[in-house]
Amino acid sequence: MNSIIELPGDSWTQAVPAEAQDRAIDNLEEGRVLYFPHLAFALLPEEEAFLRPTWSSGGAKNIGFERETGKIWGVSGSETEKAALSQMLRRYADSTRELLLNLFPTYAASLMQARTSFRPIEIAGRSSSYRKDDTRLHVDAFPSRPTGGRRILRVFSNVNPEGKPRCWRIGEGFREYAQRFASRVASPIPASRFLLSLTGVTKGYRSLYDHYMLGLHDQGKLDSEYQRQSPQEPFAFPPQTTWMCFTDQALHAVDSGQYLLEQTFHLPRAALRRPELSPLTVLEEIVGRPLCARPR
Ligand code: SIN
Ligand code: FE
Repeated sequence: MNSIIELPGDSWTQAVPAEAQDRAIDNLEEGRVLYFPHLAFALLPEEEAFLRPTWSSGGAKNIGFERETGKIWGVSGSETEKAALSQMLRRYADSTRELLLNLFPTYAASLMQARTSFRPIEIAGRSSSYRKDDTRLHVDAFPSRPTGGRRILRVFSNVNPEGKPRCWRIGEGFREYAQRFASRVASPIPASRFLLSLTGVTKGYRSLYDHYMLGLHDQGKLDSEYQRQSPQEPFAFPPQTTWMCFTDQALHAVDSGQYLLEQTFHLPRAALRRPELSPLTVLEEIVGRPLCARPR
């Protein structure tokens, strides 16, 4: 299926040759996963203490960090330990930002850095509702965090110390997936999206685009037949490797793995080299109407 492209880079900070930049942006915007088998996020010796599942507090699956404010959540630990973990997440946030600026200089002016996460819990055997079950193929869309048409670009680094890979599956292309499920997404009830934002259920207004993306996410996960039968390519990302993709476009699922760092970025459609491939444009074609009054 050719949904994963290997790139030779081994540095977070080095300039990337123009040819490699071109190859990277084309494949990324076509919905592939860019895989860097030689790019490790090396933990400092004192940070290795964080490779234990007990750092995660009360049922939260991820530890979250916001670079801009320095806020950290989902951690159980003393203030000193929280500060040290924040430092590690800040280093990851800074490294991934630098990598993206080197790889995609044309995104630089519009790239927005969102949350950083640390995922210390083993995926295999973890139970959750179907909506939260990331072992089912899906594109990312979050009920409380509408993007208003902005892209979701995520960078992942496996920091597992025991040699355990992060096992993913990558599914069919976004257009095929959207064509299959868009007609199953119910039209939104008038005024409901406004109420969601007014009452604080959503952080900001859930655009029609967000409504459809959430619908695709839910309908795809609900369809067990599709989950079993649809084309999908398994791939195991070994420890000490990094990969990235537009997770709102690349259909993905995770089967197993423990200790992952992840950084989310947002990007407006207007910053893309090929906006015609974005989920917003593809969905607008399928649904036959504009889905964002003012795409962000
Ligand atoms: C996901 O984005 O669905 C989960 C990815 C992961 O934790 O490996
Ligand atoms: Fe996901």
